[in-house]
Amino acid sequence: MIEFVQVSKFHNREWPSLDNVSFKIEKGEFVLLTGKSGSGKSTLLYHMYMKELPSSGTVFVDKYESSSIKRSDIPELRRKVCMIFQEPHLLYDRNVFENIALPLRLIGEDETELRKKVLQALSYVGLSHRMDDPSLRLSTGEKQRVCIARALVCDPLVLLADEPTGNLDSETSAEIIKLLKSIHIQGTAVVVATHMPTIADDWPGRRLHLDSGKLVSDRRRSL
Ligand SMILES: Nc1ncnc2c1ncn2[C@@H]1O[C@H](COP(=O)(O)OP(=O)(O)O)[C@@H](O)[C@H]1O
Ligand SMILES: [Mg+2]
Repeated sequence: MIEFVQVSKFHNREWPSLDNVSFKIEKGEFVLLTGKSGSGKSTLLYHMYMKELPSSGTVFVDKYESSSIKRSDIPELRRKVCMIFQEPHLLYDRNVFENIALPLRLIGEDETELRKKVLQALSYVGLSHRMDDPSLRLSTGEKQRVCIARALVCDPLVLLADEPTGNLDSETSAEIIKLLKSIHIQGTAVVVATHMPTIADDWPGRRLHLDSGKLVSDRRRSL
């Protein structure tokens, strides 16, 4: 479903940010991407999101290929590949419900269907009771849950999370990881990037490790 074939990325420097990286991720996998700060984790996720394109090599995501993807394909790709960040990206002039509804409004989803999907996602992330609240009023952990719910309403193939627990205390982090895990169990592939070794310690799935842009290990722990 996602495949990197000898992908290198140069950012106007002599040394690469990604260095000849090859791997494959299948539908429904639960992948942790580790490596210290600057090792290329975000760059790798941006290639899966096709926000960045390789300097050499090819990235395949679903039916798209980095060498031939068109700008007009991006909206459809972003409904299949969703990304959440360390800082929750929300529209703070809208309430929780409307933030989650946003991607469905963009595709002109029918109002009854939209409401059904948003309520379902809200309940999934445990925020049904906050749906009418201004999004600014939520805690950081709750904002992150709204971002996850907004990704889920599109029923994506892949959810990418870049340091999603970076601003959270350990208890809230554990809840977010648990939520991401339950999403993967439902069949969406989940890729979480982190520089925090504590998350890696008891990760139940596959772990890719980057060092200076190179993929230096790819291990699976059997569940
Ligand atoms: N847009 C960019 N322009 C220049 N250098 C970049 C850019 N994006 C990333 N880099 C460089 O690529 C390397 C990997 O960065 P990044 O993928 O953000 O690492 P990580 O997410 O693991 O901290 C770093 O050396 C960073 O400075
Ligand atoms: Mg990063």
